[in-house]
Amino acid sequence: MTTNLFNIPINREGTSCVKYDMRDKVFGRNSVIPMWVADMDIATPSFILDAIRDRLSHPVLGYGFRNDAYHSAIVHWLKSRHEWTINSQWITFCPGVVSGLNHAISALTNPTDSIIIQPPVYHPFFHTVENNGRRLITNPLVEKDGHYTMDFSNLEQHLKNGATMLILSNPHNPVGRVWSMDELTTLGNLCAKYNTIIISDEIHSDLIFTPHKHIPLASVSDTIADITITFSSPSKTFNIAGLATAFAVISNRELRGKYNRELEKTGSGMGNILGPIAVEAAYTNQGEAWLNELLAHLKNNEQMVKQFLHTKLPQIGLSPLEGTYLLWLDFRKFKLSDKDLNHILISNASIGLNHGSTFGKEGEGFQRMNIACPQETIVVALEKLEAAFSDLY
Ligand SMILES: Cc1ncc(COP(=O)(O)O)c(C=O)c1O
Repeated sequence: MTTNLFNIPINREGTSCVKYDMRDKVFGRNSVIPMWVADMDIATPSFILDAIRDRLSHPVLGYGFRNDAYHSAIVHWLKSRHEWTINSQWITFCPGVVSGLNHAISALTNPTDSIIIQPPVYHPFFHTVENNGRRLITNPLVEKDGHYTMDFSNLEQHLKNGATMLILSNPHNPVGRVWSMDELTTLGNLCAKYNTIIISDEIHSDLIFTPHKHIPLASVSDTIADITITFSSPSKTFNIAGLATAFAVISNRELRGKYNRELEKTGSGMGNILGPIAVEAAYTNQGEAWLNELLAHLKNNEQMVKQFLHTKLPQIGLSPLEGTYLLWLDFRKFKLSDKDLNHILISNASIGLNHGSTFGKEGEGFQRMNIACPQETIVVALEKLEAAFSDLY
């Protein structure tokens, strides 16, 4: 296999896919190049599609359950990819990570509790806290020259004030950070000191660029594992988000029991029969080989954008991409209102990005660009960006 496979254009229009078929609703026009919602314009690997086709050759799609092979596949992947040894009994289900967040908040906190998130951050973190009627506490990341870090002293104040949960994006969507061992240790120990539960959303954990390395928060120490609920999924890595199949790893028996009761209460533990088939096919040596090729392609796309901005549009800042396929672009030097910035991107450049303010007010003046697409899409988008912005500075 060569990286050329990732450059094959795929027409996704008319498949009821969010990224293409909802452009009119979101951007007011169907013509924008969609570089927003976090799935890939890259084919799901054939070994996953074949496994699903194989299952579909059986004429009955009745109730299923997640068997030993499914659990073993997850155990194998976390060990081989992330050097994290888990017990298969720690694995539990969620249809998607966002529904898992909702279940965990509902099961493990009380209505008057405060929950900390660290913006700019994946916007459903805000909604899950608020939709469950919990108090939202923000501990904004600190930005210096495009590089983001956590504000531990501010965080400790919130913990002292009694926040009962923190939701971590590890790695961090949208700023592209892969949190280091030092950072995770400090965070974990602080939360353990105040007995605050951490939900570690590790959905992007396979999408990491060397020399960075994903460290599962719960692998840092037993003390930290004891307060951590990890959510992950093969959905971003292998482009199977539409299968709605994710999982949680919870080593603390009491927390796992409460989480599982919530799954039962809401009747959302069943899943669909194709999800486990995809998980088993993905979390294999074949999946690893495919992922390594994908990462090379994504890195190449990132380098193209970086070079282009450096030479043609140096006014646009770019945070270093340590992980995820989501670039965090800084347009603040243009001194445009968010409304004007969005208008120029949509109407003049014809590019559909995620507006930075979606991720919290700290994201004002920024945009998130999804580069998981064929190279040609990047080339065209950059040309349009240049035409729209080169005269504005
Ligand atoms: C950090 C993060 N968590 C969760 C999700 C969504 O997960 P799911 O589709 O499994 O609910 C995304 C999707 O973009 C994400 O970026």
